[in-house]
Amino acid sequence: MAFKIGLLGLGTVGTGTAQILQQPTGRHPMVQEIEIHKVGVRSLDKPRSVSLPSEVLTTDVEGIVTDPAVDIVVEVLGGLEPARSLILQAIAHGKHVVTANKAVISRYGDEIFTAANQAGVYVLLEAAVGGGIPVIQPLKESLGVNQISSITGIVNGTTNYILTKMQATGGAFTDILSEAQQLGYAEADPTADVDGLDAADKIAILASLAFGGRIKLQDIHCEGIRQVSAADIAYAEKLGFVIKLLAVAKRESTVDTSEEDLLQVRVHPTLVSTEHPLASISGVYNAILVEGEPIGQVMFFGPGAGAGPTASAVVSDIVNIAAVLKTGGKTEGLHPLLSCTHQHYCAIAPIGELVTRFYVRFLTKDHPGVIGSLGTCFGKQGVSLESIVQTGFQGDLAEIVVVTHDVREENFRQALEQMRTLDAVDSIPSILRVL
Ligand code: HSE
Repeated sequence: MAFKIGLLGLGTVGTGTAQILQQPTGRHPMVQEIEIHKVGVRSLDKPRSVSLPSEVLTTDVEGIVTDPAVDIVVEVLGGLEPARSLILQAIAHGKHVVTANKAVISRYGDEIFTAANQAGVYVLLEAAVGGGIPVIQPLKESLGVNQISSITGIVNGTTNYILTKMQATGGAFTDILSEAQQLGYAEADPTADVDGLDAADKIAILASLAFGGRIKLQDIHCEGIRQVSAADIAYAEKLGFVIKLLAVAKRESTVDTSEEDLLQVRVHPTLVSTEHPLASISGVYNAILVEGEPIGQVMFFGPGAGAGPTASAVVSDIVNIAAVLKTGGKTEGLHPLLSCTHQHYCAIAPIGELVTRFYVRFLTKDHPGVIGSLGTCFGKQGVSLESIVQTGFQGDLAEIVVVTHDVREENFRQALEQMRTLDAVDSIPSILRVL
C-alpha cells in the first residue's frame, strides 16, 4: 500500500523532499511506500532540478488539500498565507500534515492543533526548528519522561554566521551582513533573522514541547544582533566570552511545587563563556542544549537549514505518519507521542524579573572618581560587580566595561537610569546579558 502525499511548494525544501522520495535505495524501506501524488507550484514552466511527471505538477493548491486520494499534505511553502489556510483546509479534509513552517506553527499552533485533534489527524513539524537536527521528536519521545528545566539554543544560522564572521575578522555588522547576503547565507530582507524573530518562533515551539503548554509569541522578549558591535566582540573575547544569539526557555519554579509553572522565554545576543558547549558552534550551524532531570545535559548539533537537511526532517515526519497509519491508523485514536496533548497557555515571566549577569560598556569622561560613582549607583540597587575594567579610549572618552554578578534585570536597569544622569557618563553603547 502506498501513502500518497500532496506537496505544497517545490522550492529548496520541496525539491529536497522530492529528491529523497525519488531515491529510496539505502534508506528506510518505508520511503518506498511514499508516493508523490501531486505537487503544488506557482509556475508550471519554471525549470526544475527534480524531474516529476507533468501530470503531478499543478497550480491548483486547493485541489491538493481537498483531493480524496491524498493521505498526507506536506506544506513547504513558507510564509503565513496561504500556508495557514491550506494547512487548516487539509486538516478539515482529514489529511495529516507535515510542515516546515515555524512562523505558522508559532502563531497559529492553537488553531491548527485544536483542529487536528478534532479531525483525528497528525501535524508534524520536525523541520520547523533546527532544519535537519532531530529535536522535535526527541523532545516528544526520547526525552519525554524528563522534567525539562531549560532549553538554550543557537537556532538561527544566519545570525550565527554573521557573529562568527565578526569574531573572526573584526568586521562590522553591516559589512558582514552585506557579505552574507552576497554569498546567499542571508536573505535580501534579513529582518526575521537579524532581529531575532525567526529564533523567537523556534523557541516558542521548543518551549511548548518541553514545558507542555502553549506559548504566546508576544510574551517572548526578543532582541536581535544589529546592535552588537565589533568593539563588544573584542571586549568579550578578552574577558573569555563569545557573543551568540541565544534562544532560551527556562522553568523558573521547581517542578515539585504546586505553583503554576512560570517560564522565561527570550531571544537576545548573549556573552557565552568560551568553555560552554554552545560557544564552539560556528557559522551556519545550529545547536540546542536541553537540560532536564534525570538526563542532565544533552546537546543536539547540526545543519539548521538547507535543502537536504531540512528535507531529511520532512521525510522522516512523512514516514512517521505512514508507519502509524500502517499499524492501526486513525481507528485506534491518535498516537499520544506524536499528537499535541496540551491546551493551556504557559505563564511567562516579564523580562524585568529575569535574574542574570550583564555586560555593559560605558563611554565616560576621564575624571577621577568616575568608576567610584558608577560603583555607587550599582551598589544602591544591590548590583554586585564581577569585574570592571577601563581598557581604552574613544577620542577623549574613556571606555569602561563592567560585568555584573547575577542581578534582577529591573534593578540593573534602574541603576543604569541613574548613571545616565551623571555628568561624567557620555553614553552607554552596549548592554548585553551573560549566560
Ligand atoms: N533563516 C533560518 C536561519 C533558516 O538562518 O537559520 C530557516 O529556519
